[in-house]
Order: sequence, then structure tokens, then C-alpha cells
Amino acid sequence: MERILTAQTPAKKGETVKVAGWIANRRDHGKIIFLDLRDSTGTLQMVITPEQKETYEKAKDIRSEWVVQAEGKVQERPEGMKNQEIETGSVELSIENIEIFSKAETPPFPIDTQGYEVGEEARLQYRYLDLRRARLKKNLLLRHQVLQFMRNFLSKEGFVEIETPMLTKSTPEGARDFVVPSRLYPGTFYALPQSPQQYKQLLQVAGFERYFQIARCFRDEDPRADRQPEFTQLDLEMSFVEREDVMELTERLLIDIVKTLYPEKKIQDIPFPRVSYKDAVKQHGNDRPDLRKNKEDQNLLAFCWIVDFPFFEKDEKGAWTFTHNPFSSPKREYMQNLMAKKNIGEIIATQYDIVLNGVEIGGGSIRNHNPEALEKVFEIMGYTPEQIQANFGHMLKAFSYGAPPHGGIAWGFDRLISLLQLEPNIREVIAFPKTGDSRDLLMQSPSELAETQLKELHLQFQKRKK
Ligand code: AMO
Repeated sequence: MERILTAQTPAKKGETVKVAGWIANRRDHGKIIFLDLRDSTGTLQMVITPEQKETYEKAKDIRSEWVVQAEGKVQERPEGMKNQEIETGSVELSIENIEIFSKAETPPFPIDTQGYEVGEEARLQYRYLDLRRARLKKNLLLRHQVLQFMRNFLSKEGFVEIETPMLTKSTPEGARDFVVPSRLYPGTFYALPQSPQQYKQLLQVAGFERYFQIARCFRDEDPRADRQPEFTQLDLEMSFVEREDVMELTERLLIDIVKTLYPEKKIQDIPFPRVSYKDAVKQHGNDRPDLRKNKEDQNLLAFCWIVDFPFFEKDEKGAWTFTHNPFSSPKREYMQNLMAKKNIGEIIATQYDIVLNGVEIGGGSIRNHNPEALEKVFEIMGYTPEQIQANFGHMLKAFSYGAPPHGGIAWGFDRLISLLQLEPNIREVIAFPKTGDSRDLLMQSPSELAETQLKELHLQFQKRKK
């Protein structure tokens, strides 16, 4: 007999079926034993009576989280015993045979609750148990559905999904890099990508015109509720486009996702309002305003665009640095200023950020595809010609072989899903997140390396003085 899923049982009334999964709960009512079975689709109530002698004896020992397979008849539950709350609530399985696949230790915390009440250290250390809870299953299921939706949508729009390297070069994107020592080239390092920014631009030079990627990004910064050292972006880039084209596509995709997968939610304003950086800071004190008219309504989504960011700002040492992305183009009317390195603080970038309910969920820009103009950006930031060549020579060279005008955007995918799933932080929508202090408690990383590995990597450590 083929195994069926618990969610399929209501359609099999009167039939003998086989199901398998984990024991979610065991209740003894007089002589009758009730076992709730959980599989990837939900739970099913199963019953055993003393008449099934051998099976009944076996079932006496069965405890929560044991893994079993059961055969029996699907029967309608008596009136008054039906449970409207669950999908299989109108039926139960009368067990005839049960096979035990695995026994289980008592879990360190309850699994049949929401889980917010359990300490996060324990949840992350036993993440495979934590992920058994319905809430987290649902989060990962919806994450998958949004991902599939985006893939289909973008494929239909002519985008090609292309993977870019994880072992790459340290790039100045604002955060600290995670680095990987090279075994073959002593004293040199790869860096893990902070984003696929440069590769996606190179793909435009290569003529792909419409690229996207569900991209893993790495930034060595302190985690927060909406920040992880390793996170996922929906990254895309398009050729021969203006700011409006990227914004229009982003807006249409976000609206389609909400309407299709979250029909219970309401988008406050369509088209999404646009606020200049200056007005946002003046009116709301920050550049990610929460424009919801009613903050009590959990299903209200207030998207907005923030535009017209300054290109440069002074860093703590008083030198000019970029506010978002050195590869952005200034707005057309400021190109002259950039080329003349004049009124630098007034130059406005083509940057656009997208904000949802007070959280920055994405950002992008039209890029600077003119190598001379790009060089000026680095000159303003105080790079010498040698430094420009060493760090960005590959981009300037690529652009000298015929670069199309191009632009794109990246969404913080974890942030978007956490907002749609009404979760307080992005760890709730990531299968195996790091702790607030960047540790993986399940695998116990970061961890030390064996002496032989260090040697191979040409690394030596200085012991910290106690
Ligand atoms: P940016 O650095 O703004 O742009 O990143 C895009 C979006 O990614 C999300 N994000 C994060 N999410 C979780 N944890 C983090 N540590 C984290 N850091 C950023 C945010 C942010 O809006 N290459 C450019 C995009 C482009 O110009 O196309 C970039 O990466 O939601």
C-alpha cells in the first residue's frame, strides 16, 4: 500500500490507508488511546481500541515525537467530536497496524506552541525540532511560494536567472567583508560577496539585458532584528532602462505577490507614494518612514519609494564617501558637477529605496556606465589612480568595451517575508539563522581549525593575552 499524506485523508473516508509521521500528542481516554500524527501537511487523529490486541500493546509505549507508520480505516468522527480548526478534523484513522521507525528523546521544549515563549538559544540549538512547529513550517512554505512566484513572474518577463560566484574579491560596498584564505596563493584572500553588484553589471556588459538571482549575500556586521551576517536578496538588473522602468517592474511584482499569495492584505496606496530623501528626513526624522494610516491593522501594507538621495556624504574623517553605491549614476542634471568635481555635496543620485511599514526592503539605482564618470566618483573619494586600477580596474576596462545603460534593484528577501508573515524578526523566516551575536549554535560555528588546516592555509594566530 502506498503511503498517503494526512491532508489527503478526509477524501478517503471508508478506505484503508497507510500514513506515516511523528506522534504530535498522545492521550489515553479510559481504554482508548488517541495518537495525533503529524506529517509535512498537518496532523491526523488516530485511535486504537483494546480489541486490536497486538497493536494496542505496541501503542502503549509510544510517546510524543516517535516516528511511526500506521495502517487503518479512515472513519468519520462522531458528531460533536469534529474539530473545525484542522483540515482533517472531520475524520480519524482507526489503527489496525502500527510500525515504529524511531523512538525519540523528550524534546527540550514544546513543539505544539507558537514558540515565542521559548528561549531563542534553545530554539536555535535544536532548530530541527523548532522547525517542526506549525508556525515555522508555514513561514518556510510561504517563503517558498513567494520565491516560486518571483521566479515565474520574472521568467515570463524575459529575465534569465544566473548564478554568480561566492568566492570573489573584496569590494567596497559599505560593510565589512567575510574573507576566505587561499591555500594555493599564500597571503591572499577571497571575499564572500556582500551582493552580486559587480557581476550583475558585468552580465549587462555581456549582453544578457535582463538578469535575476536569488542571491546569498554576506556582510560582517552586527546582527539585529532585520539583519543577519548571511541573508538573501532578490537581485535584478536590466539594460536600456531608466529609473521608471525598474520602479514600475518592482511595484508590479510586489503588488502581484500580495494579491496572489496574501489576498487578506490591503496595500494602502497604489501607485506607491514617492518621498524625497530630504522630505522623509524633514517630516519623519529618517529615510524609512512608516506611512501606515492605521498601525493597529496587521494586514495593512504601506509601501513607499524614497528617491533623490545625495550621492556623497562626509565620513567621520571628513573625506567624501558614497551614501549607497559607488556604481550609481548621478541624476542627469548633476553629471556636469560630477565630471567637474564641483558642488559635490549637492549631487543627487539615481538611487531609489523601497520601504514597507517603516522597514527598508530594497534599494537600487541606474548605474554609471561611462568609465570616465565612474573614475571621477573614485577620485572624489580620494583614491589614487593606482588604487582605482587595483580595486576597480576590471569594471572600468569592461565598460570600455561597450557598456549599455543599465540599472537594477535588490530586495531584502528575508525582510519582505518577515513583514508579510507578521514576524518580529527575520530569524523566524530563515531555516538556520545565526544568533544575535553571529553564532550558529546548532553546528557550533565559528569554530577553531586543526593545526594542519591552518598550516595549509599559511595562517598563524597570535594568542590573545589574557
Ligand atoms: P543594499 O545594500 O541596500 O543594496 O541591500 C539591498 C537590501 O538588502 C537588505 N539587507 C539585508 N537584509 C538582511 N540582513 C542584512 N545584513 C542586510 N543588508 C541589507 C535590505 C536592503 O534594502 N547591490 C545593492 C543593490 C542594487 O543597487 O541593485 C545592494 O546590495 O532590505
